[in-house]
Amino acid sequence: MTQARKPLIAGNWKMNGSGAMAEAEARALAARVAAERPAAELALCPPATLLARLAGWLAGSGISVGGQDCHAKASGAHTGDIAAEMLWEAGALYVIVGHSERRADHGESDATVRAKAAAGHRAGLISIVCIGETLAQRDAGETLKVVAGQLRGSLPDTATATNSVIAYEPVWAIGTGRTPTLEQVAEVHALIRQELRARFDDGAGFRILYGGSVKPDNAKALMAVAEVDGALVGGASLKAADFWPIVAAKG
Ligand code: PGA
Repeated sequence: MTQARKPLIAGNWKMNGSGAMAEAEARALAARVAAERPAAELALCPPATLLARLAGWLAGSGISVGGQDCHAKASGAHTGDIAAEMLWEAGALYVIVGHSERRADHGESDATVRAKAAAGHRAGLISIVCIGETLAQRDAGETLKVVAGQLRGSLPDTATATNSVIAYEPVWAIGTGRTPTLEQVAEVHALIRQELRARFDDGAGFRILYGGSVKPDNAKALMAVAEVDGALVGGASLKAADFWPIVAAKG
């Protein structure tokens, strides 16, 4: 029998936010969660400089915080990088790895992403592993091949349904206001589920998020697609007024 998967709605603030904004959003979301008790779990992934303070403001609210990236090593001479253990110490429960902006801006390969995901596991974090095709790859009919390859290459053998979440984010849908059709989302999520089941004993239990231009007006339809266990939300996670309808859309 398939284990019930608790939906997850995760906000990725990217390089946005300030202390004042983070405190206001934390308080607004904590109040909504207390009042409305949503079915979905919530997580916010702010810039690293805000992580510890955000974790403090959210303490006891049930809302988790996460990092947006980590280094594969636990410590060492890596100027500007942050270890997964440091994120954990700052109060994180999650870490996003392999976001397409990291892959594109910092040349991260599947092997790099796999090492970072494993670092998250080593530190006791839940790694949110991002995969997704470019528009050129979709137009060339390569979506399923690309996504399956990224999944195999980016997910370490240490992955379990408890310590890993998959985020399917078509690169061309991120920050563009464009989304795949519901059929396209269903097709890719079904493939990811099939791959997870084939590789892991608990493959049926992994949560698979959709990400890319999830907004209040399309969230309900996207979240109702089979095998979509929640969302990774960029722009719309920056304001509680936009983020909350997405949370509410998943139950
Ligand atoms: P977006 O970003 O919701 O702004 O498209 C999604 C993401 O990059 O995770």
